[in-house]
Amino acid sequence: MKVSVTTIPLDELDIDLLLVPVAEGAVEATLKALSEQFGEIVRRTAADFTGAPDELVWLYPESGRARRLALVGMGPADRVDLERLRRVAARGAELARERKVVTAAIVRPQTSIDPESASQALVEGFMLAAYRFTRYKTDTSDLREIERLVIHETGEDEKASRRGAERGRIIAECVMTARDLVNLSPDEKTPTKFARLIEQSAKKYGYEADVWDKALIEEEGMGGLLAVNRGSPEPPTFTVLTWHPENALNERPVVLVGKGVVFDTGGLSLKPTKDSMDYMKSDMAGAAAVVGAMEALARLKVPLYVVGLIPATDNRPGENAYVPGEVIRMHSGKTVEVLNTDAEGRLILADALSYARTYRPILVIDLATLTGAQIIALGTEAAAVMTNNVEGAEERLQAIVAAGERSGDRVHPLPMYDEYAKLLESDVADLKNIGGREAGSITAAKFLEHFVDYPWIHIDMAGPAFLKEPKPYRPKGGTGFGVRLLVEFLRDFASPRRFSS
Ligand code: BES
Ligand code: MN
Ligand code: ZN
Repeated sequence: MKVSVTTIPLDELDIDLLLVPVAEGAVEATLKALSEQFGEIVRRTAADFTGAPDELVWLYPESGRARRLALVGMGPADRVDLERLRRVAARGAELARERKVVTAAIVRPQTSIDPESASQALVEGFMLAAYRFTRYKTDTSDLREIERLVIHETGEDEKASRRGAERGRIIAECVMTARDLVNLSPDEKTPTKFARLIEQSAKKYGYEADVWDKALIEEEGMGGLLAVNRGSPEPPTFTVLTWHPENALNERPVVLVGKGVVFDTGGLSLKPTKDSMDYMKSDMAGAAAVVGAMEALARLKVPLYVVGLIPATDNRPGENAYVPGEVIRMHSGKTVEVLNTDAEGRLILADALSYARTYRPILVIDLATLTGAQIIALGTEAAAVMTNNVEGAEERLQAIVAAGERSGDRVHPLPMYDEYAKLLESDVADLKNIGGREAGSITAAKFLEHFVDYPWIHIDMAGPAFLKEPKPYRPKGGTGFGVRLLVEFLRDFASPRRFSS
């Protein structure tokens, strides 16, 4: 989709659909302006329009070049935030699709939000709502792609608005990269094929990808990743991504770790299929978010040194599969008693987190579809976020929660009290890989905490990663959750103030 910003008079806009978001209170002024440009029919047709949330009026103007106008209510002006803008733009994309139009424009509403952020949000909302995963549809004659989106801007804010729109387009495309990877059929994303796709992304956008094969993983002693992989006919991979621009503000990297379980059957502790195994092609959504974020960092040229680590395998009950009761030796040297082979994510993440120590990172963020308990706690509206209690824990948590609110990829904190760690004590090994039914998301995080010795943020996104029912600008299937969160967090993290000493 082509995205642009224009300041030409509204009635000169040659467009199939002009979306006009209107807040309550701005109705009078908007109708006055529109009727001057498009004729008195505006006033008559929109006479009862109040600007209430989601209210819609169609207009077919007498003059001007726009084929149709859609006035969409946004509710009270003082409650218009970035998410409201994304959703109103998403509504525009839905309307455009229904009418099978190919060009659309949005009049950026005048609100207290700065024009740059506002245009970014409008473009994100529109593009993400227009997304469809059609790879496996043989007949797409019914689908008409929207080719062009124009943001209409008045005069002096043009430059800022253009920056925002361009950023919104790039970020939306990176979210779609993550969605595509999650939606891909598992046979097309075996660890090796997945790694190839990541290499292609790296090549295309100018960051580095180094793919380790099984021999290297063995040499490095990644006992968790190897144990999970044992029941699979496909070898594991471990992919190291690097974005290290010359103007990086940091010397020690920020490391992103993504769970790359390309399909989770549960292993010998097999999942009962209905509603549990059916969607497990999405168990690499954390890895997909890391790939999308690396693309965005490179494309937006964010001045940060960032490393991405992606341990990838499927989890299957093949004849050599690891078994409950087995004790494995992890990359860190610690031993783990495996009491449930379906708690595999933490095993492969622990090895990646342990390997991350070799970078002496200033911060590590991992993203994983780690526990069903996260979905029970928060549903699909927010991921759970946890951090270890070392220097700057409060500030770290605050920053990631704030980035979640701004980006729309919301995260909500869970506590990490020491008491929870007790649940992981093993009779025979250093720890066991399950803690029991209670506080399942927290005990998973407590497990991972054994393998970190640096500031660390853990994001359990089992719920928001994949939807069975569509939400505004998030269709069924992979949502690309985490990409916008990471980009927002890291763009803020890259403030020169943080690194000036
Ligand atoms: N991949 C699952 C978690 C999951 C469940 C993601 C539902 C998305 C939707 C993970 O590997 C898993 O199986 N976790 C177990 C852990 C348990 C055995 C301690 C779970 O949550 O049931
Ligand atoms: Mn599992
Ligand atoms: Zn899993």
